[in-house]
Amino acid sequence: MADHDPGPRPTYALRRAALRDLLVENRVDALLVTDLINIRYLTGFTGSNAALLVYAWDTTEDRTVICTDGRYRTQVAEQSPDLRAEINRASARRVVEIAGEWQTGRVGFESHIVTVEQHRAFLAQATGLDLVPVSGLVEQLRMVKDAFEVHQLAAACTAADTALAALLERGGLRPGRTERQVARELEWLMFEHGAEAVAFETIVATGVNSAVPHHRPTGAELATGDFVKIDFGAVVGGYHSDMTRTFVLGHASDWQREIYDLVLRAQRAGREALAPGVATKAVDAASRAVIEEAGYGELFVHGLGHGVGLRIHEAPGIAKTGTGTLLDGVAVTVEPGVYFPGRGGVRIEDTLVVRKGGPELLTHTSKDLTVVD
Ligand code: GLY
Ligand code: MN
Repeated sequence: MADHDPGPRPTYALRRAALRDLLVENRVDALLVTDLINIRYLTGFTGSNAALLVYAWDTTEDRTVICTDGRYRTQVAEQSPDLRAEINRASARRVVEIAGEWQTGRVGFESHIVTVEQHRAFLAQATGLDLVPVSGLVEQLRMVKDAFEVHQLAAACTAADTALAALLERGGLRPGRTERQVARELEWLMFEHGAEAVAFETIVATGVNSAVPHHRPTGAELATGDFVKIDFGAVVGGYHSDMTRTFVLGHASDWQREIYDLVLRAQRAGREALAPGVATKAVDAASRAVIEEAGYGELFVHGLGHGVGLRIHEAPGIAKTGTGTLLDGVAVTVEPGVYFPGRGGVRIEDTLVVRKGGPELLTHTSKDLTVVD
């Protein structure tokens, strides 16, 4: 199919300006960025080897430098034409050397990313520099999605919605097919409908396997009366969708209807709690309370959701232990589940964007209980 409409243009220079404000707040003169996803977010560069140096006061960006190796000489010029590019295989060490040549002073490094060995190598290179550990600054910016990012997320969610509809339409969920066959067919359909990659290993879990939250598809065959839990996503423009739907094959029992209705009510409570200024742990609590009141709190064995974007799991976590509050434009999943070991389970998950007037739903597949004939 044709390349998807990229929508609004990405705003890399604005993102770097926002990072510079954080560098001033964190009292470092520059940040050495070595996480490749953070580099992609700040520059558009998608190569597999890079380091980036961003200066706190460098509003004209004369000093902003990206370093990569010879394989990416053309690509870096195309993807980051506004930045000074250095070509050196030891990209991070070269950037530390440049910071030293420019007598930078306090240079932050991403202490949640850099290994002990890399740190040792930086220290050996860092003549006259003060290397300062900082954590999660770019990730903090990445939580709030701009118009370009929401466009990519929506396109990824549409690819997943369309693929699932096509799977059901072709009779892809029927007794006798294996979990693996269903997973591979759904993945193929996502590619047919615009995905550039799958967001993570597709989960198809039938019958008792549906009680395993992150079951890996096996040769188990779908059977009449089974719950079939499908958790999957597409990647478009680097952005990940994430959606779970649970179906019943042939005929739903009273027990299945009761559990499904409970999880659906908990999922609605979670979605309705999403608003700017709300603590992430309060969103988890709003959904979890529905399941606890029904007496099944012990069977909801994971957090309610997570941020989603250039990575399938990113900040903020939405869990009992979550910290911080939501902001307008934060993209998250809401995915409560109830799992009866040895019997079956239900999870229902959407990808949404937090908005002042109520969350923007990006995954549109129906959440009504669907009994597949
Ligand atoms: N939907 C997969 C996950 O959140 O881990
Ligand atoms: Mn998820």
